[in-house]
Amino acid sequence: MRNELKGLVLSGGAGTRLRPITHTSAKQLVPVANKPVLFYGLEALRDAGVTDIGIIVGDTQAEIEAAVGDGSRLGVRVTYIRQDAPLGLAHAVLTAADFLGDSPFVMYLGDNLLRDGIRGLADEFRAGDADAMILLQRVPNPSSYGVAELEDGRVVRLQEKPPEPRTDLALVGVYMFTASILDSARAIRPSARGELEITDAIQHLIDSGLRVDPHVVTGWWKDTGKLEDMLEANRLVLDVIEPRMEGELVGSTIEGRVVIEKGARVVDSAIRGPAVIGADAVIENAYIGPYTAVSDRVVIRRAEVEHSIFLEDSRIEDLDARVESSLVGRNVVIARSTAKPRAYRFMVGDSSAIGLI
Ligand code: G1P
Repeated sequence: MRNELKGLVLSGGAGTRLRPITHTSAKQLVPVANKPVLFYGLEALRDAGVTDIGIIVGDTQAEIEAAVGDGSRLGVRVTYIRQDAPLGLAHAVLTAADFLGDSPFVMYLGDNLLRDGIRGLADEFRAGDADAMILLQRVPNPSSYGVAELEDGRVVRLQEKPPEPRTDLALVGVYMFTASILDSARAIRPSARGELEITDAIQHLIDSGLRVDPHVVTGWWKDTGKLEDMLEANRLVLDVIEPRMEGELVGSTIEGRVVIEKGARVVDSAIRGPAVIGADAVIENAYIGPYTAVSDRVVIRRAEVEHSIFLEDSRIEDLDARVESSLVGRNVVIARSTAKPRAYRFMVGDSSAIGLI
């Protein structure tokens, strides 16, 4: 049996594919079914018995620390490790060298979600003698991921986001390593995008004759780095949510799986789950359709929404078409105006996208 597994959770990165949300907030804190993506990862580690966790942080350190604290609320013990520049996942591992010591560890990318968690995989790695274990899943668009080639059940080649992938086996953002990965991370050179790629470091392990075991994940997996993936993750999690009613319901109908948190008021409205309504939210004369997550203190009046995520303190009012497939940030106001001339009036952040009909 190996030493105790440590956890290394990556929560830096610029989140360019989720702008403008990530101009002002960390991508790992965008909520899926009203819980930050990052928390799912920390809980998955905890449930696998991994409680000594280093979190790699960058520019959004303060925000991540404010959300996670010392980890005790989530049942883990967190050490923050600052990565001064986003120079790649293998660079992040090197940055954590002191924290890791010679322990084996699970590296978990903070924007990844795995339906079945990692308990079984961690146990398998603990019990076995592989030098590393990678998780894989078949995807329709492998060129967006690290891609693996297997031969006789062994990993023979890995490539980071190849334009012409040789297989459809994508690298899931969860890896099990022994300390040997540190030597490989030191040995490789930056890729064309200027990063020390973990994919190259794992290839280096293979080239050095070490054993890298593949494991194809069967339950769903989502990397929530893009809007569509975020909405899909929201959908997948809401699909199995336990209904709960702690708010106030007046003249409204609720169908399907719906969570309504404390202090929320639903008046003269219809909610068709799966959906979650956050604490102190106000829903009035509105329709909340399937796959919608409404965060705390959001106000939705005289409007219809579905298949969307609304972050805290936003207000949606008096719309005459339904809002769908949307990710709305914090403190956003989307409302009809009676001002003349009759016109669209925007105050919109950089890299925003608005779809009109
Ligand atoms: C990273 C890795 C990639 C992996 C992906 C999984 O890519 O470099 O190999 O497939 O995570 O989420 P990123 O999403 O950081 O571009």
